[in-house]
Amino acid sequence: MPPVPRTLAMAPDADGDQATSAPSGSSDGVMVPEPFTLVVFGASGDLTRRKLVPAVYDLWCDGLLPPEFAVVGYARSTKTEDEFRAGLRTGVEEFSRAESLDEVSWQRFASRLHYMSGRYDDPSGFRALRKRLEDDAEQGAGAANVLFYLATPPGSFQAIIASLGESGLARRGTGVAPWSRIIIEKPFGRDLASARDLNRELLAAFDERQVFRIDHYLGKETVQNILVLRFANSIFDPLWNAKYVDHVQVTVAEQVGVEGRGPYYEQAGALRDIVQNHMMHLLCLVAMEPPLALDAEAVRDEKVKVLRSLRPIPPECVAEGVVRGQYVAGEIGGERVPGYRDEDGVAADSVTETFVAMKLFIDNWRWAGVPFYLRTGKRMAVRMTEISIHFKPIPQVLFGAPPRGPLQPNVLSVRIQPNDGISMRFQVKVPGPAMQIEPYQMDFGYADAFRRAPEAYERLILDAALGDRTLFTRSDEVEAAWAFVEPILEGCRGCPDVCPSTYPAGSWGPAEADTLLEADGRKWMLVRRPKK
Ligand SMILES: NC(=O)c1ccc[n+]([C@@H]2O[C@H](COP(=O)([O-])OP(=O)(O)OC[C@H]3O[C@@H](n4cnc5c(N)ncnc54)[C@H](OP(=O)(O)O)[C@@H]3O)[C@@H](O)[C@H]2O)c1
Repeated sequence: MPPVPRTLAMAPDADGDQATSAPSGSSDGVMVPEPFTLVVFGASGDLTRRKLVPAVYDLWCDGLLPPEFAVVGYARSTKTEDEFRAGLRTGVEEFSRAESLDEVSWQRFASRLHYMSGRYDDPSGFRALRKRLEDDAEQGAGAANVLFYLATPPGSFQAIIASLGESGLARRGTGVAPWSRIIIEKPFGRDLASARDLNRELLAAFDERQVFRIDHYLGKETVQNILVLRFANSIFDPLWNAKYVDHVQVTVAEQVGVEGRGPYYEQAGALRDIVQNHMMHLLCLVAMEPPLALDAEAVRDEKVKVLRSLRPIPPECVAEGVVRGQYVAGEIGGERVPGYRDEDGVAADSVTETFVAMKLFIDNWRWAGVPFYLRTGKRMAVRMTEISIHFKPIPQVLFGAPPRGPLQPNVLSVRIQPNDGISMRFQVKVPGPAMQIEPYQMDFGYADAFRRAPEAYERLILDAALGDRTLFTRSDEVEAAWAFVEPILEGCRGCPDVCPSTYPAGSWGPAEADTLLEADGRKWMLVRRPKK
C-alpha cells in the first residue's frame, strides 16, 4: 500500500532513510510507523513526565503506534520499573488529552514502559542498554528500530551523543535496517560556536538524516497552518509582499515567570530562549518563498534562505533596533508576583533580559523595506502568540479623506495560542444614512471548527518515527539563526548601559518597546483578552 500523506506532509524521503518496511496507512489517511523503541535519556525529568509520555500515551490510545512499541527510560537516578511507571502515570493523568485514565489502556501501555539507570558517559551503561534493546527486540518486548530522545539539560548532550556513537547504537551510515534516529531538545547551543560544535559531534555519530532537532513550536497545528493559509489559498500570495504589506508583527508573550528554572534562564535570557528558535521559525514560515514541494529538504531550504536574507544587526547598532527589558514585581490576574531578580536562582544584580523587542528587515525581493517587529517577554499582561500582517492603507481619496481621517488598514492575524485561529480586520459601513465606516473583525477559531488538536509533541514524535524531518531544524538552519542572533548578543554585552530597561510584571514590556514602533508611526497590535 503506498504511504498516504498526512495533514501537512510529507512522506519519508525517497532516499529510504533506513526503513525496514513502509509505514502503514490507517483508514483516515494517517500513517502508523513501523515498530520502534523510544529510548528517553533524562527519563526521570520534567519533560518526560509532563510532555513526552503523555503524548506517547495519547498516540497509543489513538492507535497511531505499532503494537511492538516500547519505551526505555534511561537516567542516572536509581528507581525500579514500578516506581518509574507510577511517576509517569501521574503525568499521564494530569497532562494527557484523555479526560480520564482508562485503566485497561493504561495497564497495557504501562507494560511497555521500562527503566534503566546509568551514567551518560559510562560505556558499560550503554553496553547494557544495547544488550537490553537487542534482547527485547528478539523477545518481542521491543523493536529493533530505535528512536533516541535527548531529554536532559544540554550539558549532557555531548556525553550521550558520544556514548551512542562509541557503543554502536547510533548505527551511523549503515543505510540498512534496523534504523536509529535521534531527537535532540532545545536549546541547540548557546551561540554559533557551541551550535557548530554540537552539530560536529552529532554528525560524527549520526548522519544528518538521522537527526531530528526539535522545537515544539513547529509541532503546533496553527504554526503548520501558516503554510496552508499562504499556499493553499489563492487570494493571499499576490498580496504577500512589499507592495501590499506595510509591516509584520510577531508577539510571543508569556504570563509565567521563570517557573523554578532561574539558573537556566540566567544563562539563556529571552534572546536565546525564544528569539533564536521559536521566533525565527515563525518568521521563516511567514516570509519564505513557496517551497518546491512539501518535503523536508524543500521546506527547510526556503527557511534557510529567509535566515540568510536577514539584514544583520551589528553589535554597535543594537542600542537602536533592539529593546531589552527585565520584569520587576507587579500584578498578574489580581496576584502580586515577584520581580525577576527576586526569583530563585537569579542573581540580585542580574542583567539577563526577560523581554526583547526588535525591528528587522529581510533583504530580498519580496520583503525589501518591510519592517518586521518582534517582541517576546515573560510576565506579560496576557499569554499569547500571534503574527499579524498589516496591509498598507488605502489611498486617502474616497473613504479615508479628511475630515473623517484615515481608515484603519486591513490586518490579517494568525493566533498561535491561545484560541488558535485566524482573523481579518476589514472595514464595513455602519447601517444608516451616513457613510460611517468602522473596522470589523472576521474570525475563525480552530476550537469552533474542529475537535481538539493533538499536542505538538505527539505530532513531532510521530513524525520522527515516520522519518519525516520537515518540522525539525536542519544543521544549517540552526547555525543561520545563531549567526543572526549572535551579533545582537554581543552588542548587548558591550552596551554602555548593559542593564535592560525594567517593566512591571503584568504589563506589555518597557516603554521603549512602544517607542520603537511609534518612531515609525506605528503601534503594536491591540491585544484581545483570551476567551473564557
Ligand atoms: N520541561 C519542559 O517543559 C521543556 C520544554 C522544552 C524543552 N525542554 C528541554 O528538554 C530538556 C529536558 O528538560 P527537563 O525540564 O525535563 O529537564 P530536567 O527535569 O531538569 O532534567 C531531566 C533529567 O536530566 C537529568 N539531569 C538533570 N540535570 C542534569 C545534569 N546537570 N547533568 C546530567 N543530567 C542531568 C536528570 O536525570 P538523572 O539525574 O536521573 O540523570 C533529570 O531528571 C532540556 O534540554 C530542556 O531545555 C524542556
